[in-house]
Amino acid sequence: METITSAPGKIILFGEHAVVYGRPAIAVPLTQVQATARVGDGRPGQGVRLVAPDLGQDWLLEEAQELDALADAVRRVQAAAGLERLPDLTVTVNSTIPIAGGLGSGAAIAAATIRALARHLHRPDLATNEQVARLAYEVEKIHHGTPSGIDNTVVTYERPVYFVRGAERNHIETFVPGRTVRLLVGDTGVRSSTRLVVGDVRQQWQAQPERFERLFTACGRLAEAARQTLEAGELAQLGQLMQENHAVLQEMSVSSAGLDALVSAALAAGALGAKLSGAGRGGNMIALVTEGTAAQVQAGLLAAGARAVLQTVLPAGNEVPA
Ligand code: PMV
Repeated sequence: METITSAPGKIILFGEHAVVYGRPAIAVPLTQVQATARVGDGRPGQGVRLVAPDLGQDWLLEEAQELDALADAVRRVQAAAGLERLPDLTVTVNSTIPIAGGLGSGAAIAAATIRALARHLHRPDLATNEQVARLAYEVEKIHHGTPSGIDNTVVTYERPVYFVRGAERNHIETFVPGRTVRLLVGDTGVRSSTRLVVGDVRQQWQAQPERFERLFTACGRLAEAARQTLEAGELAQLGQLMQENHAVLQEMSVSSAGLDALVSAALAAGALGAKLSGAGRGGNMIALVTEGTAAQVQAGLLAAGARAVLQTVLPAGNEVPA
């Protein structure tokens, strides 16, 4: 018997960086790309075999390194299930989510693996969204040191997430838009390290605390407004808020010439709004489009040098399957 589950990628819609300082942020699933985990019964006596065909890797759990995220995901389910030994299993992961682009690939692989394994072990209590997100957060620490918690949440719940980081507990709410929202994700092709950019923002905040607190607060207010606008389905207004958030991120010095060029190209081609998404200084930007403008904005992004353009559609409340 084989148990298969998937988890989507993610993008931050509002509030990157400020979220690290306790301001609200919104992230949404990027459904065009997915991580998939398959858990099947293994050969007797083999133990747990881990297979990542995309990376050409095949190894045993008992031989895994300490910082091996896939092994960590498996071990966390084992511990949560209170099992001293796991049965003989093969865990295979595949992903179409670009790695290291701020699209949540690590979190999605962790969430898919945790859910598939919990189900395979007949532990539905460990396969709930709450449990999967909690365990995936622990795995995320391998990649990100002190992750905000937004990635594991959005890829697990597969819904827009309103998120506020808390000292004790994070405040997390999923919600649904009042109208279908269509976003394009344009890749600058420039890889940037989230850890480095987050560290640089911290240094700037330490040097100019008042100024940065003001910028973070501005981002937080925009995220609050964006949530209301999304729920009300006011897309033109949402686009305007994206513009404002991009301008604040520029002030924080986390945009780049490449990101600004793609944002301008998207607007020139008819997007309702556009901004960088995630850590910045490279990586991805997002553009709010409609069914009617998606193709021309995509063409505009590619002409302006985007390496790839992905699309995600957030269904309106009345279209989300129960
Ligand atoms: O590039 P991404 O999507 O991993 O986003 C990083 C988002 C930050 O707010 C900059 C950092 C964080 O941990 O939330």
